Amino acid sequence: MSRKGPSFVCQNCGTAHNRWQGKCEGCTEWNTLSEEGLSASGPGRKSGKGRLFALEPLTGETHDAPRLPCGISELDRVTGGGFVRGSVLLVGGDPGIGKSTLLIQAAATLAKSGHRAVYISGEEAVAQVRLRAERLGLGGAAVELAAETSVEDIVATLSEDKTPRLVVIDSIQTMWTDAVESAPGTVTQVRGSAQSLIRFAKRSGAAVILVGHVTKDGQIAGPRVVEHMVDAVLSFEGEGSHQFRILRAVKNRFGPTDEIGVFEMTGAGLREVNNPSQLFLSERDLGSPGTAVFAGIEGTRPVLVEIQALVAPSSLGTPRRAVVGWDTSRLAMVLAVLEAHCGVKLGGHDVYLNVAGGLRIGEPAADLAAAAALISSLVNAPLPADAVYFGEVSLSGAVRPVAQAPARLKEAAKLGFTRAVMPEGARDTCEGLRVSGIDNIAALVANISARGGAGQPRLRQAG
Ligand code: TYD
Ligand code: MG
Repeated sequence: MSRKGPSFVCQNCGTAHNRWQGKCEGCTEWNTLSEEGLSASGPGRKSGKGRLFALEPLTGETHDAPRLPCGISELDRVTGGGFVRGSVLLVGGDPGIGKSTLLIQAAATLAKSGHRAVYISGEEAVAQVRLRAERLGLGGAAVELAAETSVEDIVATLSEDKTPRLVVIDSIQTMWTDAVESAPGTVTQVRGSAQSLIRFAKRSGAAVILVGHVTKDGQIAGPRVVEHMVDAVLSFEGEGSHQFRILRAVKNRFGPTDEIGVFEMTGAGLREVNNPSQLFLSERDLGSPGTAVFAGIEGTRPVLVEIQALVAPSSLGTPRRAVVGWDTSRLAMVLAVLEAHCGVKLGGHDVYLNVAGGLRIGEPAADLAAAAALISSLVNAPLPADAVYFGEVSLSGAVRPVAQAPARLKEAAKLGFTRAVMPEGARDTCEGLRVSGIDNIAALVANISARGGAGQPRLRQAG
């Protein structure tokens, strides 16, 4: 049933209320409701009798999504092989992280290979975009530019000529449509504009990329409400102080969501990083206690990364636990296992854990590397600089096998590591690597504690 009349929409989360109130029931924020004319009826809906449509069986002719690789391989990896015709992609990220840079580079690469690429900026003037492109060495690319914010004008202009293969809208927050009666920048406008652009993409077959800025707490503000409407959501992340940028798929209707693309921000724009392990290990602090190299897998690609831990006596009643790049509850679990099964008392210590290079690890396989770094810091004994660690630690203290061990070992050997510590249950061999299998975390603790003296590693060596 459609409701007529004004609606009060929360500008933070998009919840609609039918009367004004101080606090939003959706997100409990105060003073975020604003009155907006809600177009309760769907686009183009006529009242009266519904139209009939045919229902199709699940089995039938299927076509692979027609893709167009943009030529930037790290971006293509994350999208799942290129931009799908008629699809809409939302690229979110902090202001200044490099979204505009990445997308003008993608548009230029496509244009260079003879496809029509359009870049619409609602934030910068054409001259500014041009200047940036020149600085990036893309001045010669046949990208078509415009500084526009009216969705109706944009759709009309783009429908005139040959359909563009790629349309970049930078950003969705600056767009406005006549279809809804509310101020530009509001959630309703963002949603209405996105809807029009999505309809344009589906109808014309152009791939549309919407840029969305995120807020301080990491939510894609405004664009949050369009996340469910678009085909894919990519998040562009990075630490201000690092030059690394990581592109991650949050949602992808046409591909995997566990792939990451790694870039480096340079004076000449974003450079692809084809070997992320090398990058993440480039600033290693060799020979200091509390660091362990984790052999991880991101999507289909092995990535080696340094895990740093600091365990220090605490002066607080409740010691601090701080984690960057890993799961807090995972750290709590590893600490509890060390305490319960290995007699490692950490109740009076502050514990800090950091994943180097701004990477965020989601794999349980990092348990073993995290535990090694923690114990190394606690007993002040550096781990061997040429060793990698991976394995999942269960609550019983057992070290459990993880997937894709051969790929992890191969990457470690490729980067010059000579030892690997991994679950005994899935022990594998790899040329150039001395592989040690352990089946219980207690063995790791004993081994690292022994390193304090001149002890030989007490792990069982692979044949
Ligand atoms: P930008 O793409 O404008 O970010 P966003 O669109 O996500 O807001 O990137 C802006 C930052 O990138 C700016 O702080 C400067 C830096 N930058 C470089 O370091 N090198 C470059 O070649 C370019 C174009 C930008
Ligand atoms: Mg920008």
